Amino acid sequence: MFSDRVDYGLKRNRLAQAVDTMRRARKPYIDLTESNPTRAGFHYPPDLLQPLAQPRALTYEPSPLGIREAREAVSREYARQQIDIRPDRIVLTASTSEAYSILFKLLADTGDEVLVPRPSYPLFDHLTRLDLVVPRPYDLEYHGAWSIDFASIERALSPRTRAVLVVSPNNPTGSFVTQPELDRLASLCADRRVAIIADEVFADYALEPGAAERAGRAARCATLTFTLGGLSKSVGLPQVKLGWIAVGGSDRSATEALERLELICDTYLSVSTPVQLAAGALLDRGVAVRRAIASRVVANYHYLKSSSGRAPACQVLQSDGGWCGVLQVPSLQSEEDLVLELLQTDGVLTHPGYFFDFPRESFVIVSLLPPEPTFADGIDRVLRHFACSATDR
Ligand SMILES: Cc1ncc(COP(=O)(O)O)c(C=O)c1O
Repeated sequence: MFSDRVDYGLKRNRLAQAVDTMRRARKPYIDLTESNPTRAGFHYPPDLLQPLAQPRALTYEPSPLGIREAREAVSREYARQQIDIRPDRIVLTASTSEAYSILFKLLADTGDEVLVPRPSYPLFDHLTRLDLVVPRPYDLEYHGAWSIDFASIERALSPRTRAVLVVSPNNPTGSFVTQPELDRLASLCADRRVAIIADEVFADYALEPGAAERAGRAARCATLTFTLGGLSKSVGLPQVKLGWIAVGGSDRSATEALERLELICDTYLSVSTPVQLAAGALLDRGVAVRRAIASRVVANYHYLKSSSGRAPACQVLQSDGGWCGVLQVPSLQSEEDLVLELLQTDGVLTHPGYFFDFPRESFVIVSLLPPEPTFADGIDRVLRHFACSATDR
């Protein structure tokens, strides 16, 4: 009766089941997987969402790519980051996740392929599957810093490749793509008429000073690029549901893409009028939330780095941006058993590297969003676990 597209992921994994059990038994634990900023104890001014209540929103005038003033507000966001994108090259969406789906419809037919970074964001499996697109991994390799393994890109490219996905900074590795990497990618893509989809939702969150300014930006490439962003991360408002696509490349290819994007967006008209009318004000008012998130993730990342010496067998990988930290830990057991033990014995919830397709074990991924004292307590527990394991041996 149901499509194969949704015939997966219906069973809860062991970690999710263990969390359910802890909750039912009311056993407290520290959650170092919290990725929802609205649950991480930030102060949101109570009237922050007031711009959504404008009387003008009582009139519905559908505009498939988004109303002009909202597209102008997003264009100003790029100007703030020293990137020049005209409002008529901005397309509004309900979220970044929806933007992926729209772009897969634009670029790919059933069974066509898109290249996805590994390690990266687990949602790609679902997003590609739901649009009947095949994800082909390419590798990011770590050598004190992360970089793209171009040999793996060349191996993964095929006549069916329609797009290469780049996440910068990447979730969870925290690596920004560099401009030389993007330029090399753009020339590989241009030769094969393949587009670049650059997810830059975390671009405002540098963990190392100057990392965001040094990062490459897809919109500066000469080939057809689609840069994704949204309120979800840029001002910590995932529930408000506003994302965007910025179309880069020559006028000719951008125009061809925009005509087709208009057709897709006109079919769904998924972005609400209130949020479009409020976009400019929300981006302005949300600056305080963005600053609070930025300063907390930096503080937590520094805590993580400075305290890892207490468990010499653990190494904190270099992260330049984003909301995650990555710890390489001894492989004394499977990652799954390890995170279960951390939860059940040490009372700290973390994610295993395999959730993010790390090619080998053992990695533990932590969110940098929790309040500083909670984060420090959670990290102390993780490190104590390994300090004790080392003594036990
Ligand atoms: C890299 C990346 N892109 C996109 C998203 C989703 O953003 P949105 O809420 O706009 O769909 C996330 C959410 O965690 C993410 O980590």
